[in-house]
Amino acid sequence: MKTLFINIKELIQVRDVPVSVIKGKDMKNLPVIKNAFLLIEDGIIKDYGKMEDTPSDKDKKIIDATGRIVMPTWVDSHTHLVYAGNREDEFVDRIKGLSYEEIASRGGGILNSAKRLQQTSFESLYEQSKNRLEEAIALGTGAIEIKSGYGLTKEAELKMLRVIKKLKENYPIEIKSTFLGAHAVPQGFKENKQAYLDLVVNEILPEVAKENLAEFIDVFCETDYFSVADTEYILKAAQKYGLQPKIHVNQFTTIGGVAVGVKYDALSVDHLEILTDEDISILKNSKTMPVALPGCSFFLSIPYTPARKIIDNNLPFALATDYNPGSTPSGNMNLVVATACIKMKMTPEEAINAATINAAYAMNVSDKVGSITKGKLANLILTKPIYSYTSIPYHFGMDKIKSVFIKGEKFTKNEI
Ligand code: NIG
Ligand code: FE
Repeated sequence: MKTLFINIKELIQVRDVPVSVIKGKDMKNLPVIKNAFLLIEDGIIKDYGKMEDTPSDKDKKIIDATGRIVMPTWVDSHTHLVYAGNREDEFVDRIKGLSYEEIASRGGGILNSAKRLQQTSFESLYEQSKNRLEEAIALGTGAIEIKSGYGLTKEAELKMLRVIKKLKENYPIEIKSTFLGAHAVPQGFKENKQAYLDLVVNEILPEVAKENLAEFIDVFCETDYFSVADTEYILKAAQKYGLQPKIHVNQFTTIGGVAVGVKYDALSVDHLEILTDEDISILKNSKTMPVALPGCSFFLSIPYTPARKIIDNNLPFALATDYNPGSTPSGNMNLVVATACIKMKMTPEEAINAATINAAYAMNVSDKVGSITKGKLANLILTKPIYSYTSIPYHFGMDKIKSVFIKGEKFTKNEI
């Protein structure tokens, strides 16, 4: 089965030679072919180039992309998309003046979501999650990482991870799963956090590994959540099962999360709203991707991750949504890219690199997605007629996507 896109106004993020990480000044470069064709065969990118070089193979479906842009789908390397219900009441409490920390200390926040999730059936959790996933795909996301962490009991953490497994089985996009047992200390363990860490390490982790339910391990390394020592305890245990770290660090305070992540070869360290010069130099000597979640900064009115400082220090940089019910109830990567440009002073080229190639690195799918490269999956965004790719961040919050293709097939959401 062949599909040929013709008359593409701009074919974006074309990399003849695959690259897995783009850093520093190179992030300003976004390779584009104007007036291009793109040939897909059996769900894979087969060929591309200038219109005058269009191949003349027969038996192919033609899509005329006059005035439109074709680009690789977004890669969302950090989400908590599997959750039960919502936290709209906390949203209103924050509007009225309570802080995210105050809400959490009153038993709201992550513990609120955990209570709901524990009471929700597998079927209902799957149903809620699949609708969110379909909405994200329709917004252009073609690979996604999803975490556990709203279970906080053995049974509920496994339920979350099994929901992610079922999503992997039923959807064609790349999905990676992360075990985040250490997301918050459950109420019953407040006086004995070590007992909870032991439960995570000795009871839940072996079962996660046995059922092959996760690729990555995560910890919320933060004041009032899990210390550097706690984080190290979890990462060390996960190492035995081959789970690579992707951890939450430096969201509100800097307690050494970046260093412990790098020490354990984290694939990424995520959030980084508060970042020290020492953190920057530690990242310079590592293979760890710094990941920002600007939707969280926007929704909670907390500082934005200092993207300029990170990129100007010749580091790579990635963007993700953090889609979750508490700090970022949005899985819209287009808005993340726009926010990165508007609030973090990233150029459109830097933001698109951060949300495609570098994001693919941050969830270990660089070989499959993130660029227009022969042999990669035909996971593509076809835009509406637009002036240039800059229109995507410029028209923030607007929908510039005409269709999304996953493995060469046009994706259609189920009606709900
Ligand atoms: O990445 N910071 C930790 N976890 C999530 C939010 C969790 C919640 O509020 O439910 C985050 O922001
Ligand atoms: Fe998160």
